Amino acid sequence: MRAINASIGFDAKLWRQDIAGSQAHAAMLAAQGIIKAEDQAAIQAGLAEIGAEIEAGVFPFSESLEDIHTNIEARLTERIGEAARRLHTARSRNDQVATDFRLWVREAMDAILARIRELMKALATRAAEHAATVMPGFTHLQTAQPVTFGHHLLAYVEMLSRDAGRIKDARARLNECPLGAAALAGTSFPIDRFMTAAALGFDRPAANSLDAVSDRDFALEFLSALSICAMHLSRFAEEIIIWCSPPFRLITLSDAYTTGSSIMPQKRNPDAAELAKAKTGRIYGALMALLTVMKGLPLAYAKDMQEDKEPVFDAVSSLELCLAAMTGMVLDMRPDTARMEALAASGFSTATDLADWLVRALKMPFRDAHHVTGCLVRLAESRGVDLPELSLAEMQSVEPRITADVFDVLTVRASVASRASYGGTAPANVAAQAARWLEILA
Ligand code: ARG
Repeated sequence: MRAINASIGFDAKLWRQDIAGSQAHAAMLAAQGIIKAEDQAAIQAGLAEIGAEIEAGVFPFSESLEDIHTNIEARLTERIGEAARRLHTARSRNDQVATDFRLWVREAMDAILARIRELMKALATRAAEHAATVMPGFTHLQTAQPVTFGHHLLAYVEMLSRDAGRIKDARARLNECPLGAAALAGTSFPIDRFMTAAALGFDRPAANSLDAVSDRDFALEFLSALSICAMHLSRFAEEIIIWCSPPFRLITLSDAYTTGSSIMPQKRNPDAAELAKAKTGRIYGALMALLTVMKGLPLAYAKDMQEDKEPVFDAVSSLELCLAAMTGMVLDMRPDTARMEALAASGFSTATDLADWLVRALKMPFRDAHHVTGCLVRLAESRGVDLPELSLAEMQSVEPRITADVFDVLTVRASVASRASYGGTAPANVAAQAARWLEILA
């Protein structure tokens, strides 16, 4: 029973929040005349000493005292006696744990937001540096059209800014205080829930005591935001893995972010990227675990909810690590710009530019231009050359009205420069977007 019942093995992490919640509660009890001023003073001093004990690693945690809440209260009683036994007036561990966990999640949200910001800054910095670096753009992982490396990096800045937005939205909804809901029905004592809510930095007390002690949607929202963020990082990690694979060789990572092989001396394995990708699994797992814990729970509190904490703790530390590793890799990676540009030019990547030229210069309907371009690509393919290497005569054998002007649009530099539509990959756009992000993130 003790082994399955106790949560102290993992909820000791909530000690700061538990002390802060108890201090706010005691101050309110005294202000409302529910406990005496001297009791409240003894409680405050005792809790502060307990905080110091935990920090110093000398607090005697006990499994038989079940959880962090009972451990701290029992220790307080040992230290200050009778006054400690008045602290639990007008509260229950149900509103206490709901409050502590919200406080912990709120801090974790801020910590994750700070790390997302660091990664966005790293990406925007590298994007500014590579606003004009041309790389192959892919669809289906087949060469599609040339893009700029900076544009590719800024795509992740956009994703991460939405990840941050989801966390901020969840934070705003989380920020209501359960304290004072007591076990489930509220209390007969004349408490001031607005006072405790304000003292703990909440916007307001939760309006329904049953809801306050029994929902964990704030944790679920956070876990879903973390899952989506992890999915974004996982895609990026996979791209890093592909880019630094020797047959691609678009970038290299230094020894700081790669490992060698115990048998193959030439290897530089992108372990950090692989692990950032793989950790996504446990973050999704945390979301699924808690969703499953919560489904089918009748109101109000049930011990099932003790299972809310470990998945959240694990998801947060995993994603923090992934964000830090990705930030490190973004700052570390060295693009091989010459190879990027050469690969960007291969695979008929400017075929769309040719079709667009036929539309613009010859007023051809796009579908016809697409067909003519297809014939030219097949011709080039049969000759074993790329589009810019076809002669004008060869081009004219397919479409007699083509002029030498067409060659101006067939280079990758011309191609990316022409993509100046809003949101497009043109270096001027990318430089402006990178500068905009760097200003926002400064
Ligand atoms: N350790 C419990 C948890 O994490 C605290 C609340 C216990 N409440 C109760 N009525 N047993 O959920």
